[in-house]
Amino acid sequence: MSEFDGKSVIITGGGGHGGRALARLFAEAGAKVAAFDISEASLAGFHADMASKTAATLGIACDLRDWDQLQASADRVATAFGGIDILINTATARTNPVWKGIEDCSHAELTELMEVGPNGTLGAMRAVLPYMKGKGGKIINFGSGSGRNPAPGLGAYGMSKAAVHSLTKLAAREWSKYRINVNGILPFMMTPTMAQSLRDDPHALDPFLPPLNWIGDAERDIGQVVLFLASSASDYITGQNLPVDGGTDMMF
Ligand SMILES: NC(=O)c1ccc[n+]([C@@H]2O[C@H](COP(=O)([O-])OP(=O)(O)OC[C@H]3O[C@@H](n4cnc5c(N)ncnc54)[C@H](O)[C@@H]3O)[C@@H](O)[C@H]2O)c1
Repeated sequence: MSEFDGKSVIITGGGGHGGRALARLFAEAGAKVAAFDISEASLAGFHADMASKTAATLGIACDLRDWDQLQASADRVATAFGGIDILINTATARTNPVWKGIEDCSHAELTELMEVGPNGTLGAMRAVLPYMKGKGGKIINFGSGSGRNPAPGLGAYGMSKAAVHSLTKLAAREWSKYRINVNGILPFMMTPTMAQSLRDDPHALDPFLPPLNWIGDAERDIGQVVLFLASSASDYITGQNLPVDGGTDMMF
């Protein structure tokens, strides 16, 4: 028996790498898990993972840039699961202009980063708010070290994440009256792309190794901290943007 038994969790970007890892952890802990994702392929991955779980699950095709879709999706989850207790925002724009300087990033690329990042995160938070008001809730937003320590070439992405960090702190203050804790995770975790580079060259990621000398695993290293922030053990923590990055944050 875990405290997540029967709890209702929404994960935006729930078909992505980190989102799927979290969905597995929460489903194993007994929670009912809904994934919002724009990509049918990502949602198919979520459904494949959930097939072996006993918990109730829901994969919803939803574009975070459309707040009406977000509200309708949240309403659907609340009806199916009997409420909403936890929101985890992991979605990130598919057109992330990686390694493009701010002089080269197009307006369309920047707009998508902002629309899916801070705007989509706020849209999801607003959509669940009616269901958390009165009984409380937990919101966890995925930020990034590049939103704290500007990284040349990742400027537009960093701008969008810095806005997410600010939103996290602001909402923690404004929504404390509703007993909603809002915190952020700034992860460093292995992705399928990074794993492929390592298969091609075992030393490819050496320059990026943090002080702890390994790249985090989405379930073991990041997911356990998200579980903590979603649990009653963190009831006295709010408005924190926590690097979970093997110490990378200290290097800048
Ligand atoms: N991997 C790292 O080291 C690292 C570092 C810092 C921050 N992060 C952050 O961690 C989070 C999770 O990363 P990930 O590797 O799981 O990402 P991912 O790319 O695997 O997943 C993101 C998901 O968001 C979905 N998405 C994109 N646009 C959307 C939209 N408009 N509406 C709904 N869904 C949409 C995608 O379809 C995808 O499934 C992201 O916010 C990322 O920025 C990761």
